Amino acid sequence: MYAIIGASGFFGSYIIKAVLEKTDETILATSRTKNEFQTYDRVIWRTCDVSDPWSVDSLLNELSREAGVKIVYLAAYHNPELVERNRTLAWDINVTAFSAFLNKAPFAKKLYYASTDSVYGNSADGYRFKENDALNPANFYGHCKCAAEALSIHQGRNVARFPFLISPSITYKKHFYDYIVDSLRHGIPYEMYVDSFRSSLGFDRAAELLVDLIEIDDTHQIVNVCGDKALSKYDIGLMIAKRENLTPNLIRPVSATESDTWNKVARAPSTIMDNSLLKEILDLQYVDVFERPIKN
Ligand SMILES: NC(=O)c1ccc[n+]([C@@H]2O[C@H](COP(=O)([O-])OP(=O)(O)OC[C@H]3O[C@@H](n4cnc5c(N)ncnc54)[C@H](OP(=O)(O)O)[C@@H]3O)[C@@H](O)[C@H]2O)c1
Repeated sequence: MYAIIGASGFFGSYIIKAVLEKTDETILATSRTKNEFQTYDRVIWRTCDVSDPWSVDSLLNELSREAGVKIVYLAAYHNPELVERNRTLAWDINVTAFSAFLNKAPFAKKLYYASTDSVYGNSADGYRFKENDALNPANFYGHCKCAAEALSIHQGRNVARFPFLISPSITYKKHFYDYIVDSLRHGIPYEMYVDSFRSSLGFDRAAELLVDLIEIDDTHQIVNVCGDKALSKYDIGLMIAKRENLTPNLIRPVSATESDTWNKVARAPSTIMDNSLLKEILDLQYVDVFERPIKN
């Protein structure tokens, strides 16, 4: 069985799909609320607020009766601006609650923590960060992720570091992708950063790669799960316009570092990751942002 903690969000909904497509396993998926989410034959939903010890105990008590459970931990308070404004709350949810969860889940066969390229800091001159590079997060969100990673590693668990992820939402809320498409469909220009780069991936591609990793190999404790190309959001906007048959001229390049929104929180202008370890483990030649990876 897979247990996906924080499964009702953007990434969780794609991880459910990937587990169903790539394995015969059943899934216990958790959400904070009792919303009606996608119903699939092999998925059961439970409510769990990771900052509520009673709710975590009840969930882990149920999971401990399952043999060989594989946990994917996604629950996070992760809007960098909100995290900066509410540091105590962010630490409680992202670090303290996760620590308690980990400590009570020794029975799990595997546990993967979803981390981020934000742990690395800025990659100057196009440098691609490798898994064992020093960590230097630009903001408190990144620090929370570093702390949660350290907890995972010292408990013998696994960390997957993801870049900026983008796809149409298949859950209850719209993603950035959907807002871009809506805007272009209505003929409204959409400004996107041209001078900030990430090794971006679609949520579907990232979810499939994560499930492949979980199924194939857990000997490498930290793996960058990202695409080959360093892309700006402007590049991605142009790609979205093309794949949705919309006019690319409405995607307008703007500078990230000169924008008011960007400057609300300290951010690394570019966080580019090296994916050679991922490619070696999964025997891949090329990892595209939206298309399926090319195998060797
Ligand atoms: N999206 C990216 O580009 C990206 C990149 C790197 C890493 N990640 C990591 O991937 C994970 C999932 O991100 P996402 O993009 O899917 O974001 P998301 O849609 O906001 O999902 C976050 C999930 O965490 C849940 N959650 C928040 N507080 C919780 C709590 N106290 N107890 C239990 N669940 C809680 C949310 O539940 P509700 O729906 O009930 O609020 C939601 O299901 C996060 O850990 C994030 O840091 C994401």
